[in-house]
Amino acid sequence: MNRITPASLAGANGYRTKRRVPDQRGIQDIRNLPDTEFDGLWDAVILPTHTKDRLLSQAVLNFSARARLQEVSMPLHGIILLVGPPGTGKTSVARGLASRTAASLNGSITYIEVEPHALASAALGKSQQAVSHLLGTVIAEEASSGPCIVLLDEVETLAADRRKMSLEANPVDVHRATDAVLAQMDQLAANHPQLLFVATSNFAGAIDDAFFSRADLVVTIDLPSPEACREILFDSLDRLARVYPKIGRIKTDPAIERAAKRCVGLDGRRIRKAVLSSLAHSKQIAASPDLLTADAVLAAIEFAQAERASVEDKR
Ligand SMILES: Nc1ncnc2c1ncn2[C@@H]1O[C@H](COP(=O)(O)OP(=O)(O)O)[C@@H](O)[C@H]1O
Ligand SMILES: [Mg+2]
Repeated sequence: MNRITPASLAGANGYRTKRRVPDQRGIQDIRNLPDTEFDGLWDAVILPTHTKDRLLSQAVLNFSARARLQEVSMPLHGIILLVGPPGTGKTSVARGLASRTAASLNGSITYIEVEPHALASAALGKSQQAVSHLLGTVIAEEASSGPCIVLLDEVETLAADRRKMSLEANPVDVHRATDAVLAQMDQLAANHPQLLFVATSNFAGAIDDAFFSRADLVVTIDLPSPEACREILFDSLDRLARVYPKIGRIKTDPAIERAAKRCVGLDGRRIRKAVLSSLAHSKQIAASPDLLTADAVLAAIEFAQAERASVEDKR
């Protein structure tokens, strides 16, 4: 990869988005917020309004008041944790939240996304130095130069539950690695009130209790409600209709309402993927997606449900 190279892009909504290609070990993405792409993710994930409001308020509070609260020994750690099953929109919401926080504060915030695999090996005690460098040097330097939001995606790899990890790895290494991560996060929190970690996890049970207790807010993102499933299905069809306008006509077909009901129990990712795979229902539709039918969508949702049932049976 190249060195960090600024390249200004003017977003559709007028934001100036400066992208930089990361060259730092363990960092997957660095960009300036707000960011048009991330705003799109926030809008695309359908969640109860109060969940999004609560997340945004907590993130804004972090930047508006953490420094002053620290003065009176009311420590916010600057950590928001999103937990829930895979495919429920956690990563998308975390990225969107970062951008919306910057927009709410009318300011520029640096976004850093930590590469989960860089942390997995660290949690196993193999490259503790790498994680120390990442948190203690790379992130500390960024946080010293201005407000920062850091995404720790799939944080269970970083803050591994010592009780569970000790079965697979040398318990002393795991203890040390997790302790080192927690100590560094405490130090970052104390020195940089303009730093916010947004962490996600598919396995809340695998996160170390000490990390959990540091989170200022833990939000569980569940499978979508029946109303949300319907909304995701219709939103997916609307998105397809932006490219293939004739697809819009199938939204009023009764089979689509049946498909919406059959979505219940699927996560948002599977619903969106099922709608996409309905385009491969036949060679004719695949060749001309405008020919998509409501029955093809229903069949794809049924297929996704059957697939889910078979995976669950095997567990
Ligand atoms: N509640 C939801 N509403 C709309 N789309 C969703 C929802 N949940 C997941 N998705 C879609 O599924 C895809 C995967 O989401 P992602 O953020 O990677 O989930 P997670 O991190 O929880 O595994 C994204 O395209 C996202 O838009
Ligand atoms: Mg994710």
